Amino acid sequence: MDDIIRLENLVKIYDTGALRVLGLDRTDLSIKRGEFVAIMGHSGSGKSTLMNILGCLDRPTLGKYYLDGEAVDEMDSRELSQVRNRKIGFVFQSFNLISRMSIEKNVEIPMIYARKKPGERRQRAIELLTRVGLRERLWHQPNELSGGQRQRVAIARALANDPPLILADEPTGNLDSKASVEIMELFAGLHREGATVVVVTHEENIAAYTHRIITFSDGRIISDRINENPTSVSESSDLADRIS
Ligand SMILES: Nc1ncnc2c1ncn2[C@@H]1O[C@H](COP(=O)(O)OP(=O)(O)OP(=O)(O)O)[C@@H](O)[C@H]1O
Ligand SMILES: [Mg+2]
Repeated sequence: MDDIIRLENLVKIYDTGALRVLGLDRTDLSIKRGEFVAIMGHSGSGKSTLMNILGCLDRPTLGKYYLDGEAVDEMDSRELSQVRNRKIGFVFQSFNLISRMSIEKNVEIPMIYARKKPGERRQRAIELLTRVGLRERLWHQPNELSGGQRQRVAIARALANDPPLILADEPTGNLDSKASVEIMELFAGLHREGATVVVVTHEENIAAYTHRIITFSDGRIISDRINENPTSVSESSDLADRIS
């Protein structure tokens, strides 16, 4: 089975009591293992709704979601959190790091849930933070780092359990252009190593790094196209070579 993601007739209705809002309107979507995809569309078009369902942070109202061949819409919340921990690395616009904790400990958190041994956790956290160019900052807390550095910690944390699927909802939304390029180079490197990467963005130049661009409007896909000419990135996958 080649599709890591398959959505069939997916519907999300937010029922807030007084008002029912359609977040996703009968969406069909397949993403193959190893694709690098951008999700675009105006504010309120359903991008985060989609990502939260893909990331098993929320459930569809109707329809099927197969992740890696498993029907996640049928799982209970315990099974869902296991799938999330094993298969998905989620990166948020606002980083979502724990503030009074070293970045090394932040990266260990998903491995604690996965019941990895302390020595193994620590070694893996150091390896990942080295990879994202933060070897010198292991014992710093998030508030001692820049936005771009915090997002690199969040990416290291997302990679902790080596998930096949990386989801990022506007990961460069709070960053300047230089930091944004560094983040996209990291994602491009992960894609090159075989991960499936899905990134939400409002910016054409960020989407330009990806190989497929899907656009939403009013909860529906209105365009799905191949990017023939993705922005090229440097070949070294070790960001530490390029970022201080
Ligand atoms: N928790 C919620 N309760 C009620 N309605 C919601 C909720 N979350 C999203 N919506 C609605 O669902 C629709 C899609 O919202 P969504 O957050 O997916 O948009 P988006 O494309 O991510 O927008 P943005 O670019 O502003 O982040 C909007 O009409 C929104 O108001
Ligand atoms: Mg959003």
